[in-house]
Amino acid sequence: MVTFKKDLLGLKELTPEQINLILDTSLVCKDIFQRDIKKVPTLRGKTVVTLFFEPSTRTRTSFEIAAKWLSADVVNLAVSASSVAKGESFVDTVRTIEAMGVDMIIMRHALGGTAQLLAESVQSHVINAGDGVHEHPTQGLLDLFSIRERKGRIAGLKVVIVGDILHSRVAKSNIWGLTKMRAQVTVVAPPTLIPPGLSELGVKVETDLDRALRDADVVNVLRIQLERQTKAYFPTLKEYAQLFGMNRERLRKAAPDLLVMHPGPANLGVEISEEISVHDQAAITEQVTNGVAVRMALLYLLTGGGSKDAVLH
Ligand code: NCD
Repeated sequence: MVTFKKDLLGLKELTPEQINLILDTSLVCKDIFQRDIKKVPTLRGKTVVTLFFEPSTRTRTSFEIAAKWLSADVVNLAVSASSVAKGESFVDTVRTIEAMGVDMIIMRHALGGTAQLLAESVQSHVINAGDGVHEHPTQGLLDLFSIRERKGRIAGLKVVIVGDILHSRVAKSNIWGLTKMRAQVTVVAPPTLIPPGLSELGVKVETDLDRALRDADVVNVLRIQLERQTKAYFPTLKEYAQLFGMNRERLRKAAPDLLVMHPGPANLGVEISEEISVHDQAAITEQVTNGVAVRMALLYLLTGGGSKDAVLH
């Protein structure tokens, strides 16, 4: 039987069997989207806290909806208004929250490794909702789910990840997940935005997007993380858009069934044109929808759910 650890900190630590069970369970969860009443009693009596030290709309809301559809009670902690602002230490803050009987903490933090520190400090389950430039496992999983949904498989697909790899936790989680599921990954970016040691992770590194796209099945376009960039990594946004942006011309030259993905929020006109962001070949809206299903599956599996079909009963 496939089981899970107490926490989900990253895709690096998951096995292909665990990933498959998460994706299969997510598919069952997606069934609830068609229902009039989108609520099942699975997590009744459980309390989930979202603890976001960085601003977020889609990820926090997605977790909240997922927890509510499973009938858990959800508390969103506004961190700036809490005791952290009064100088209480991080560990004290989370222990105080845990002492109130919380079953699961979902945390986003600007520093890599904070999710692990939290997981080691509390008995509650912890899901990492993004820690610095380290990992963003639920985004990686919803990307895998969206690829499998559109393409019918993951193994053997050629997936290009283009953009700000250096500052992207989404890129890291995608690389771990895709390589474990036996996709062929090519990473494309200006040399200044490629972190050292990437090829040791089993991915190809390329600086020419047109060449990489020639036989690609999927392109995952990353946001240029202007807020994390402390120096000039490329001359201008206009030049970046010309060399690394997904636009009509690039889509036309690629395979007719190239799937375009973006984790959002997008800088339209920079890494992706507005036209492509809403194109039939783009899965951006589906990614958001699928995010709820994947997070439902994770809440269920981490809190001890066994069979994938039992989630809805
Ligand atoms: C991602 C993040 O926060 O890492 N966004 C998200 O989860 N909605 C990607 C990004 O910010 O570019």
